[in-house]
Amino acid sequence: MREIALNILDIAENSVKAGADLIRVTVHAEHGMLTVVISDDGCGMDEEFLKRVTDPFTTTRTTRKVGMGIPLFKMAAEMAGGEFSLTSEKGVGTTVKATFVLDHIDRAPLGDMADTVVALIGGGGKADFVFDIAVDGKGFVFDTRELAAELDGVPVTEPDVLVFVRDMIKENMIDIGGEKL
Ligand SMILES: Nc1ncnc2c1ncn2[C@@H]1O[C@H](COP(=O)(O)OP(=O)(O)OP(=O)(O)O)[C@@H](O)[C@H]1O
Ligand SMILES: [Mg+2]
Repeated sequence: MREIALNILDIAENSVKAGADLIRVTVHAEHGMLTVVISDDGCGMDEEFLKRVTDPFTTTRTTRKVGMGIPLFKMAAEMAGGEFSLTSEKGVGTTVKATFVLDHIDRAPLGDMADTVVALIGGGGKADFVFDIAVDGKGFVFDTRELAAELDGVPVTEPDVLVFVRDMIKENMIDIGGEKL
């Protein structure tokens, strides 16, 4: 089964393409539900586009005629007894939310969020990222703005920094039980 972390990567890449300055990924597991929210302050979508966006044939891609990021995430949530919602405002930003029944037989594993975060940071775009995860109230927050402040001019995209970030997120995930999701 395809990991939810890969869906999250797809959705956050849409935020990067939308020119966002800040992208927030929230993953909370509690009361038997997994809730994933990806929000951005990018270009947003108008109402007419928004109505069609969960249809695979809606895309502003020029390289092919289908866009699968949103339809696949929606399908993953609905297959796992959850719900999907997308709100967006032109010029303001977009929020994508998906919920999953944690012990549903068709729920995909969360997968490797450390790799997803590192892929997003390493993309080299201008966006800052916040990754906020909690399992039964125990969690941590990773924020590229805090990291940048500590790095004192060293770019967050440096390979050594990315390895550090990946290891740090992996360790934190083990601490909170997030790697078992
Ligand atoms: N966060 C966002 N902000 C602004 N527009 C968005 C956002 N997310 C999606 N869109 C718009 O919705 C379209 C469909 O997104 P979707 O992820 O389903 O497909 P895609 O990005 O076009 O292609 P793929 O994900 O398969 O590479 C995008 O082409 C883009 O125009
Ligand atoms: Mg996409």
